[in-house]
Amino acid sequence: MVITTRLIACVIFTLLVYLSTVKCRTKYQVCVVDGRGSNKKAARYCPILDEPDSRVECIIGLDRLDCLRRIAKGKADFAVLTAEDLVTAANLRIEVLITNELKYNDDDFEYEIVAVINDAAGISNRYDLRDKRFCHPGYSYDGEWTRIIANYLEVSVVPQGCDPYLTLTENRIKSSSKYFKAACKAGPWVNEPTLNQQLKQKYHNLCEVCSNPNVCNGNDEYWGRSGSLLCLTAGAGDIAWARLDDVRSQFSNATSRVTTSPEGFSYLCPDGSIIPVNSTSSPCVWVAKPWPVIATKRTSAQDIQELMSSLSHDLPNSWKSALLNLLETYHVTVTQVQPIEAVESYLARAVGFLSANSFPGCHPPRTVRMCTTSNIENAKCGWLREAAAVYGVEPDIECLKADNKTHCLQGILDSSVDLVMVPPDMIHMAKTRYNLRTLFYETAKDENKYITVAVVKSDSGIKSLSDLKGKKACFPVYDGVAWNSVLHSLNSKHLLKECPFEKGMADFFGSSCVPDLPRNESTSLRRLCKGNIYEGDYGAMRCLTHEDADVAFVSQNAFTYFFKDIKQTGNIKQTITDYKILCEKNLCHLSWAPLGQAMISTNKTDLWRKDSLDVFLQMDGLFGAEYKDPTRTLSLYGLYDGKTDVLFHDATARLRDVPIAKNMDRMVLQYEDILNNLGECIPSSSIRTLPLVSMFVYISCILFLVGNV
Ligand SMILES: *[C@@H]1O[C@H](CO)[C@@H](O)[C@H](O)[C@H]1NC(C)=O
Ligand SMILES: *[C@@H]1O[C@H](CO)[C@@H](O)[C@H](O)[C@H]1NC(C)=O
Ligand SMILES: *[C@@H]1O[C@H](CO)[C@@H](O)[C@H](O)[C@H]1NC(C)=O
Ligand SMILES: *[C@@H]1O[C@H](CO)[C@@H](O)[C@H](O)[C@H]1NC(C)=O
Ligand SMILES: *[C@@H]1O[C@H](CO)[C@@H](O)[C@H](O)[C@H]1NC(C)=O
Repeated sequence: MVITTRLIACVIFTLLVYLSTVKCRTKYQVCVVDGRGSNKKAARYCPILDEPDSRVECIIGLDRLDCLRRIAKGKADFAVLTAEDLVTAANLRIEVLITNELKYNDDDFEYEIVAVINDAAGISNRYDLRDKRFCHPGYSYDGEWTRIIANYLEVSVVPQGCDPYLTLTENRIKSSSKYFKAACKAGPWVNEPTLNQQLKQKYHNLCEVCSNPNVCNGNDEYWGRSGSLLCLTAGAGDIAWARLDDVRSQFSNATSRVTTSPEGFSYLCPDGSIIPVNSTSSPCVWVAKPWPVIATKRTSAQDIQELMSSLSHDLPNSWKSALLNLLETYHVTVTQVQPIEAVESYLARAVGFLSANSFPGCHPPRTVRMCTTSNIENAKCGWLREAAAVYGVEPDIECLKADNKTHCLQGILDSSVDLVMVPPDMIHMAKTRYNLRTLFYETAKDENKYITVAVVKSDSGIKSLSDLKGKKACFPVYDGVAWNSVLHSLNSKHLLKECPFEKGMADFFGSSCVPDLPRNESTSLRRLCKGNIYEGDYGAMRCLTHEDADVAFVSQNAFTYFFKDIKQTGNIKQTITDYKILCEKNLCHLSWAPLGQAMISTNKTDLWRKDSLDVFLQMDGLFGAEYKDPTRTLSLYGLYDGKTDVLFHDATARLRDVPIAKNMDRMVLQYEDILNNLGECIPSSSIRTLPLVSMFVYISCILFLVGNV
């Protein structure tokens, strides 16, 4: 009896739980990515989805691939993805289904690319392209044409060289330069301006057809979508690589002056055949780019497709209209994909699109092996690798996980990895103990740089570095930015009286804490330390407040945020007003450093460095602060799966081969300059006292002699 009652109660309870979850599940979750400007839509439209009759709610994704991951983990039901995102999904074997396409016209694809030839050029099949003049749309509108699509014709018809003494990019350029008689490929070939200039001089025939061959940039008359067609119709080139819709409007029957008679022009097909442009048979396409799509979780696909069909702008303030607004970039029609399709088969319907993404590279394959130190870093690195490859970034990145940064540095020495991101505090060690050099820097705006300052008590009366003599000091770590910058300042002011530097510092300061100080060094520099709780910038601030020390050498931001950051401070009685930054003659910092730098072996060849630097500069352009798509594909800087500073720092402005974000940056005391000028330890006692002593001896001698006379 009791048992049956319990059983019934249990069944009812289970049912209730089940029903409540079912009720919750009926609201589908759309993963929304905010773009820039007019593409910032979440704040405006997501609240409307909270209406009681709405069947959808917003989840804010960090970027489109973040949405893809959320769908894969079952944390979102659907999102808008681009064709490139789908290739990444396919390569990473992430299962989503395609239910709808977002189109802005009736075409089957967003665009299709064709090769148009001038009949007078005597081209009767694809092999006749050799020694012809090529009109290419050029580079630098990554948002619209990926390099993969821009280079498709050349990769398909031009035999690709693999000279081991040239970068991959230069190999491609050289192959085209040898193959074509001349071309106009305007715009940046590589991201580094000097290198771009060098290549354009070396392979000048690829700019020769341009209207301004010596400049060969994005302002050229023959640059861009309409530029390549203009180049062809003006008779400058024999073959043009262009979008079919642009070809159609260029050769249309409209009476507009800009159009051209189709007579005398033909399509060159991938199979080698020729079709006149004025022919009624459908033109032959080399590669088609599929429309953006609604990608869904398998289990929700059917419902979401039906839901999509019911959306409209009929009621402007309805949740359905709000959802449409969230999904579309231009005014779109949401069409059904019938039947609902898997990514691979969906992409396979677009001519050339999948094969464009799988052309073989050089052998042996060239890679940049990046060292990571956690699962999350390795995961982000893996997504970067896939996403970059889809945009035609070469060479490939490989991600290898080590236990910590020290192991990574050792890995570079052992040649088991090529590159590691090194934080400012480890730069000196990486240079001196591991003999590494920098490939590029994570540059930042002034307010985000690592700026070393001396934090002292507001009422201490300390006015200069020399006033710190005998005082209790807290450092984040031995041999870090703060340590070396203080050492440099004191040394250049001749305040260090003993050698080596460690002894001089111990002699200058009173009881202090310098975490990770080598075992054999003076104990006074370790006296304030308590285990390792005073390690790092916040550690040094804790040391300052808990130990009632006189000075902490930390980054300006650590000082600014420490007192606000309750988690880090714990129970302390002081406030930020009890402290101030020590300034001497209006100079308030001891050094500054970029947020981090990529370090590599000094053995790497010039060639390897050029190839690898370009990989990261290209990723910076595609996934960094200056991304071109309406919404972000993947955030190089910024949260990854909700975590800060994964692999790269969130506050990075851009990656550069110089430490400054902008060329006009003139902030003094750059940390690397300081490291290069640390100098020899010369005990200042000997510098000052020796001349005095000898002077004294000399004068006594004279007095003695004079006295004797
Ligand atoms: C296309 O142009 C050719 C001449 O170049 C002409 O003979 C042919 O009739 C034209 N075809 C159509 C469909 O207009
Ligand atoms: C242009 O219009 C004429 C007459 O309408 C037609 O015969 C011809 O095929 C058209 N050409 C193209 C390229 O559409
Ligand atoms: C990395 O781990 C090793 C031990 O395997 C340790 O000696 C070293 O100090 C660690 N490095 C860092 C930066 O934590
Ligand atoms: C770098 O080159 C030096 C001398 O050429 C050699 O002794 C050393 O083993 C090389 N290191 C690596 C990591 O290849
Ligand atoms: C401590 O040891 C290192 C090398 O092990 C040496 O370079 C340094 O001079 C030593 N310091 C002192 C104070 O003896």
